[in-house]
Amino acid sequence: MTACGEQRAFAPGRVNLLGDHTDYTGGFSLPMAIGLGTTVRWRPGPGGTSLRITSDDEAEPVELAPGIADGSQPPSAVGPRWARYVAAGAALARPGRGGELAVSSTLPIGSGLSSSTSLVIAVALALGAASSDPLELAHAAQAAEQAACGVPGGLLDQIAIVASRPGCGLLLDCGRLTWRPVRLPEDVAVVVVDSGEARALAASSYGERRRACDEAARIVGPLAQASLADLAQIADPVLRRRARHVVSENRRTLAFADALAAGDAAGAGRLMDESHASLAGDFAVSTRRLDELCAGLRSLPGVHGARPTGAGFGGCVVALTEPGTELPPGLAPRWWPVRPAGGATAG
Ligand code: GLA
Repeated sequence: MTACGEQRAFAPGRVNLLGDHTDYTGGFSLPMAIGLGTTVRWRPGPGGTSLRITSDDEAEPVELAPGIADGSQPPSAVGPRWARYVAAGAALARPGRGGELAVSSTLPIGSGLSSSTSLVIAVALALGAASSDPLELAHAAQAAEQAACGVPGGLLDQIAIVASRPGCGLLLDCGRLTWRPVRLPEDVAVVVVDSGEARALAASSYGERRRACDEAARIVGPLAQASLADLAQIADPVLRRRARHVVSENRRTLAFADALAAGDAAGAGRLMDESHASLAGDFAVSTRRLDELCAGLRSLPGVHGARPTGAGFGGCVVALTEPGTELPPGLAPRWWPVRPAGGATAG
């Protein structure tokens, strides 16, 4: 807390380099935090327990009733939607007094770079949530966000946002709930490209994919331990394809970590392209726009590989490139060269 009584926190967004729709089946992912993120400033008020929230991106402030921040009312009852994530962070931190929260973000909102998780965690840290155990904070943020928006997300975003290290991706084992940093080679760069396509089906179809994976696991056992041969036991061809994405994506993620560690940028890029094919074909979470954007990126000199990142159904794609690779004007409305950044900070 500063001399003027203000507490500030920053939580980065994340981009997932490889391993999508694997976290909620206990599999592997390799995300990294990015420099874009959410800053929250908290100024405790002289009295009362209600919270007044302002956001640089929103015209109107929102007043959160005391019951939200003390956990007696669900954050899902809060409107508008963006304020629900603030309510989730407040419910996690339980500040015990009122005041003003000012939110500003450099992340594109709702584009698959974890803007909502970044907001939940920045609010929680600004309000003084304990952060000594990153896994505990990640679990608490996951539960708070699920209560706010009802989407049964895994732990990928939260762990990436709290535990990332500068210069590194994190190889997450979502079964053991462990992770280790994987340094990105000096001669590769990461570019995030916004498709401009809203993720219309993200919430409903995400839950449907998750249920399909649970159903497949009832037949063959945990997908993180299943082999491709085991999947022959699944009679339903759609279910079998969903499970094949997960099993093959886990292998690709481990191979990707090895390729990065060996400085094999071309090999890492090929695995990203294969991941895209699997997300588009077996898991059916890509879109025509995402497919075209990845194909456009792949056709450029200096691009090693490209894929949709995060839940899919629109949002952003990520490419591994040679440093300094420029995208031609007109390929996409917005793109960002990003560097692997450290996790969330308070103070
Ligand atoms: C969203 C979820 C994550 C993860 C990805 C897909 O970002 O919040 O938990 O499941 O989709 O990999």
